[in-house]
Amino acid sequence: MKKIGILITLILSTFFRLNAEEGMLIPSLIKAFESDMQAMGMKLTADQIYSVNNSSLKDAILHFGGGCTAELVSSEGLLLTNHHCGYSQVQSHSSLENDYIKYGFWAKNKEQELKNPGLTAARIVRIDDVTISVLNGTEGLTGEAFEKRLKENMKVLENDAVTGNHYKAEIKAFNYGNDYYMVVKEVFTDIRLVGAPPSSVGKFGGDTDNWVWPRHTGDFSVFRIYAGKDNKPADFSADNKPYSPLHFFPVSVRNRVPGEFTMVYGFPGSTEQHLSSGHLEYIQNKERPARISMRDKSLAAINASMASSDLLRIKYASKQARIANGWKKWIGQIGGLQSVDAIQIKLDREKAFNDKAATKSEWKEKYGQLVEQMNALVAERKDDDFAYAMDVEYIFIGAEMFKRCRSINKLIGEYETLKELGELSDEIEKYKKGSKSFFKDYDNPTDRKMFTALTDEYKKQVVDFSFSKYLSTRTSEELAKDIYEGSVLTDETKFNEFLDNLDENSIEEFKKNDQAYLLWKELFDHFVTVVIPKSRDFDAQMNGMLKIYVAGKMEMFPDGKHWPDANSTMRISYGKMEGSAPHDGMQYLEHTTLDGLIAKNQTGKSDFDLLPRMKELAAKKDYGGYDQDGDLWVCFTSSNHTTGGNSGSPVIDAEGYLMGLNFDRSWESTMSDYMFDPNRCRNITVDIRYVLWIMDKYADAGHLVKEMTLIKGDSPYEANSGSCSEKEKKCKRKKRRCKQKCKK
Ligand code: ARG
Ligand code: ASP
Repeated sequence: MKKIGILITLILSTFFRLNAEEGMLIPSLIKAFESDMQAMGMKLTADQIYSVNNSSLKDAILHFGGGCTAELVSSEGLLLTNHHCGYSQVQSHSSLENDYIKYGFWAKNKEQELKNPGLTAARIVRIDDVTISVLNGTEGLTGEAFEKRLKENMKVLENDAVTGNHYKAEIKAFNYGNDYYMVVKEVFTDIRLVGAPPSSVGKFGGDTDNWVWPRHTGDFSVFRIYAGKDNKPADFSADNKPYSPLHFFPVSVRNRVPGEFTMVYGFPGSTEQHLSSGHLEYIQNKERPARISMRDKSLAAINASMASSDLLRIKYASKQARIANGWKKWIGQIGGLQSVDAIQIKLDREKAFNDKAATKSEWKEKYGQLVEQMNALVAERKDDDFAYAMDVEYIFIGAEMFKRCRSINKLIGEYETLKELGELSDEIEKYKKGSKSFFKDYDNPTDRKMFTALTDEYKKQVVDFSFSKYLSTRTSEELAKDIYEGSVLTDETKFNEFLDNLDENSIEEFKKNDQAYLLWKELFDHFVTVVIPKSRDFDAQMNGMLKIYVAGKMEMFPDGKHWPDANSTMRISYGKMEGSAPHDGMQYLEHTTLDGLIAKNQTGKSDFDLLPRMKELAAKKDYGGYDQDGDLWVCFTSSNHTTGGNSGSPVIDAEGYLMGLNFDRSWESTMSDYMFDPNRCRNITVDIRYVLWIMDKYADAGHLVKEMTLIKGDSPYEANSGSCSEKEKKCKRKKRRCKQKCKK
């Protein structure tokens, strides 16, 4: 009997003992994982990865533009990130004459590098656990009083951290407020564009391949950080100097070996690993499918327009990509969660949690009811969350006419003040500029189609739309007719006339009669006064319970590998370079090659278009020494736990050298935002050797490669894996089968 008891406890506690690859770890706590990482092959010490007193890997990794990651690769501030992360900068410098999007851009020297107002790159100076100080004096406080004290404490700590230096400090909650960390950073503001490959490289595969393995995207762009004479951050000035970093990554052009250690070090945005079974069930079966349906409608309208003319294709390209990116990720998530039966796994974990809580009266008291309460809250309040999700899709993501409404609402709200201050005409000029760029990429019939389809879908999804007089009394076609034929907001000429003749009377008239504005106002007011407060309240209650749930997991299962959900702070995940077998009878290799890229191009699909130069170089097999035994690797996968925000993150080998840039996950693994499955979840990286080849051979920008430190020769892994004899190497070049034999 006793033996069985022990066995059961062991099985149950493994529910919380995660596999090595799961988790996004806090760099300042990495010491705790050092031996595990070393057991997987890492040759570095924790101090080399993160140190406050000495330079370490962290000093070469920057939060790029607040949403992506980038890494330094030279002593002169050369910075790499993804193509899709630098896309808007490349776009902003592009014109019909200089179409950098289509043909790429390469500065031949530093003078040609292009400035990017507003773009920042932040280096993390240190990450401190400040939980005790943040919670100081909050004992016994609840609700607003608690929040107030918390905020005061944070302010003091943040101010102290930046007194007498040029840093910025920010305190963030981790584990739903069980822990608080202060991140001190150095924010650079003079970041110049150095180079970007053409979209046919940087976005190769487009939406067809997005979130998909096998992948052949050269998703990188090149920037440079400039600093003042003192090497500290400075706003753009011609006198600024290339930043001299504390650390930059040597770049590994060594052969890769399947199974070798990989580490991803960057800024993951958000994950939700702790959701209760009921909560996940609601997301998987209701919220995500509804959001997908909404986007199905937008995409159907946009895709039809894009297929009908080149002009519309260009106008809607980036909007389509934005809408489709989330849409496709969610479809992948649902598929993944279903195939592993994530809800059942959650139920099993909840049972383990409850069983454990039942073993001690103190735990029973604190944790015994929690799971049930969380699931009950979802059952009772999920509509509040759902209303929020649907409003976001309808009013903010959907028809763009609503965007115009939001913007004009601001202007008419500020009209009197602007007039008094004498700033009205300047402001109107700004609006005219804004409207020019808005209408440049807007098509009335397309937006109308989107609006009509989305309105029907929205009504179907939210069921009770009685709060809206417009939606309850009119059909989507009737509304569309008034809005797209009558409103001043859906036509550029009418909109400019409206701006030109703006006065008290025209505003009154507009507020009373413009059908687009009136519908939007009704929806937006309801959103602000009803939907947001309710959904915030739901979140607050749920987060309060999750805080206790996470504390319970840590207390009752102390041996588990606990990691706080991603929150846009710097994290480390480690794993190995490996393929996966996400479907029955199917095995993904861990890498792709230029041959595969050409094969995709030969399908004739426009997402796989190439400029002639790529085909010429590929035909010549002119790999410039960046190949691995005769193949030019393009991308590879590894089992590192990543999410949105990790784009551009360095993928680092056992010795701290750069192997490539993380940029995506496979479709089967997007579920990792909720649950990481080591058998399916793979992040996708563009191999740095392909990046170098593009710079050197394709773009004739070899001077950038010269700036970097290249690590050649055998990697420790290759030395161990028993390299082939010269003869075998030649034979390997010819045939894959032969190569596999050789590997053995
Ligand atoms: N799926 C990746 C991410 O979430 C890459 C998106 C950019 N690429 C694209 N084809 N839209 O950011
Ligand atoms: N593509 C994502 C990004 O831009 C990365 C991911 O979600 O895996 O951060």
